[in-house]
Amino acid sequence: MKVAIVGASGAVGQEFLRVLEERNFPIDELVLFGSHRSAGKKFQFNGKEIEVKLLQHNDDFKGIDIAFTSAGGGTSVEFAETITKHGAIMIDNSSAFRMDKDVPLVVPEVNATDAKHRPRGIIANPNCTTIQMVVALKAINDLSKIKKVHVSTYQAASGAGAAAMDELYQQYREILEDKEVTVSKFAYQLAFNLIPQVDEFTENGYTKEEMKMYNETKKIMHSDIEVSATCVRVPALRAHSESIWIETEKPISVVEAKEAFKNGDGIILQDEPSKKEYPMPLFVTGKDPVYVGRIRKDLTNPNGLAFWVVGDQIKKGAALNAVQIAEYLLA
Ligand code: HSE
Repeated sequence: MKVAIVGASGAVGQEFLRVLEERNFPIDELVLFGSHRSAGKKFQFNGKEIEVKLLQHNDDFKGIDIAFTSAGGGTSVEFAETITKHGAIMIDNSSAFRMDKDVPLVVPEVNATDAKHRPRGIIANPNCTTIQMVVALKAINDLSKIKKVHVSTYQAASGAGAAAMDELYQQYREILEDKEVTVSKFAYQLAFNLIPQVDEFTENGYTKEEMKMYNETKKIMHSDIEVSATCVRVPALRAHSESIWIETEKPISVVEAKEAFKNGDGIILQDEPSKKEYPMPLFVTGKDPVYVGRIRKDLTNPNGLAFWVVGDQIKKGAALNAVQIAEYLLA
């Protein structure tokens, strides 16, 4: 298997290297691609050093079986044809193709078979917040159809990139040293703060991040499920948290929900309130599954259920989900 990573030096690109190694993905050759900024950099993979090649419109993708792309939507759109024209399957992390009718949008635990129908050779990886939410929703939806979802997210700084993580550290240092606080990666100071805005606002008052949860969930779950989201940036470093409220067609008890989460694909149930056991981003960082806890009945609606979900957004929310799609194709 000949595999390519486009955007290899970014936070998600680097996670691809780790996940492919960790899962022993069957690779005969790995080719790394990047922009002028990262071409020539070298990275270790399975004990070997690989140099990043400059991404260009040429025949470098001839012979590549799978290309994981994580260099941003602009690059994905510009290079999709170059990448796929010799038969490579492009598993794309950007939002560029996610809602296109002829591009499947896949979370393997939920709709793996959609990956088979890819007329353009492109499979889209959903947004991190959607991925971790639908893994949890699937477990309940199998018991009774979910009609509505209200969700608030608590998104870690690293969701805005590796440099944003550095800026958060820097802000805390500057505050402790009584210096002026650097703000360039976020709309405001994030240290000792939170920001109720992830990505830009759209015309209806929701942000793009919030509308991704609305649109992508319907497509992945093949459902008319309604999702209303508030996405918030918090000063956690890595792993996104979500407070989720759902309304199902039939009432689901807490016991039934816990059982469904316990048996759910890709889920770890962590729900012992009396022992202060619930998922938290600090402890979910670097983990594969989506963690679910704080399961309780909604007090305003007999068909309502509330719970708390935490997932590593760079791992399951990005690189791992894409690699699992590739594994499904090979199985
Ligand atoms: N859009 C997300 C965020 C990152 O800003 O947190 C998704 O991987």
